[in-house]
Amino acid sequence: MAKQRKPPRYVARPETEVLSRGYDPSLSVGSARPAVFRSSTYVFSTPESAERAFEIALGKVHAVEDENVELIYSRLSHPNAEILEDHLVPLEVGASSAAVFNSGMAAISTLLLTLCRPGSSVVHTVPVYGGTHMLLYQLLETHGIHPIAVNAGDSAGLARAIAEAENLAVVFVESPANPTLRMTDIAAVVAAADKCAERPVVAIDNTFMGPIFQHPLKLGADVCIYSATKYLAGFSDMLGGAVVSADPELVSHLRSTRVMLGNILQPDECWLLDSRLATVSLRMHRQSKNAKRIVDRLVGHPQVSRIHYPSLFDDAEQKRIYAAQCDWPGGIFSLDLGGDKRKAFEFLRRLHITKNAVSLGGMESLACHPATTTHSEMTDDQRDGAGVTQGLVRISVGIENWRDLLREYTDALDEL
Ligand SMILES: Cc1ncc(COP(=O)(O)O)c(C=O)c1O
Repeated sequence: MAKQRKPPRYVARPETEVLSRGYDPSLSVGSARPAVFRSSTYVFSTPESAERAFEIALGKVHAVEDENVELIYSRLSHPNAEILEDHLVPLEVGASSAAVFNSGMAAISTLLLTLCRPGSSVVHTVPVYGGTHMLLYQLLETHGIHPIAVNAGDSAGLARAIAEAENLAVVFVESPANPTLRMTDIAAVVAAADKCAERPVVAIDNTFMGPIFQHPLKLGADVCIYSATKYLAGFSDMLGGAVVSADPELVSHLRSTRVMLGNILQPDECWLLDSRLATVSLRMHRQSKNAKRIVDRLVGHPQVSRIHYPSLFDDAEQKRIYAAQCDWPGGIFSLDLGGDKRKAFEFLRRLHITKNAVSLGGMESLACHPATTTHSEMTDDQRDGAGVTQGLVRISVGIENWRDLLREYTDALDEL
């Protein structure tokens, strides 16, 4: 048998690493792409190996470098999760480890349940995705965890809330915010957290811009959270979630909670998501270019009172944050049709290429009315404060030809 050449000892760029690291073909009978390991349980080579694997899994001892720890049971981990986690790391600048979950909400709830105790508080930006809002106010608050809301982008308000909160466990920032695209200065949040006697964990929901256009770990954040359902998966055909961090200890805690909650991403879904990672940069660039070309031509349409899109920000502070924090404006924009719900519904009714559906980040364009769908759990006051008006339509631009999308939006607006 020919002697295997040793791989070179340099770290390649993300687009290369995502296709080459963390997968050993010899463990998948030489298959160029990983096999799917659908097993729920794994056979131990010896009872001693089983004992050792359990001791390590339960955190009683640490594995030594290069130790071959045997797999136990798929709720703890499985080969496809390990391959996927290895491939997520190079995509997130500054990351060293990742954990995958069966939805974005599973990732967020696992993080908050791991880090918070009764009496803890969580400072969070508003608006946040409706599911995160429900988790904070309908579940965690009833267990004695106090959510403290601050408007996205309000750096002074966030610094004050972070300094004053008692037992602050987590600062949870969604930037850009869903669905107003309002941005929060991540470096300023990290600086405020650094001043706390007990440093809270700074978690950024990076679903809208990451991992390609915004790099929170580079700005000092502790974790990036993803609804992998969106851009990472990219085809609106699966649910998934991920947490990526520069802190392996923190990720290891999350994995322990994941074992108890039983919310690891299943092998088939891991395999599917893994195969999508290599194209996330290509897709996001195309979606961002499409969205920018469209919004630039919708500006000034008489039916559109406002377009929420990073390259169109008029607020000086928002412009500053965007320039400092993001490489490109991304594939999502929201149109405000004069705060008029009827007009928003009529607009949606006239779309054919773009489907009226929640979710975002898929290769096909989707549009929704956040006030009555994704953000319907917020009170009217909360929605008003956050700019989620009744006339707001959120559009996630896909990879179609942008001219066809522009024509459909212009025709629908003209008919209103
Ligand atoms: C910003 C953001 N975070 C988290 C989630 C929740 O993700 P999932 O639906 O995968 O649970 C969503 C879903 O729309 C989202 O938009």
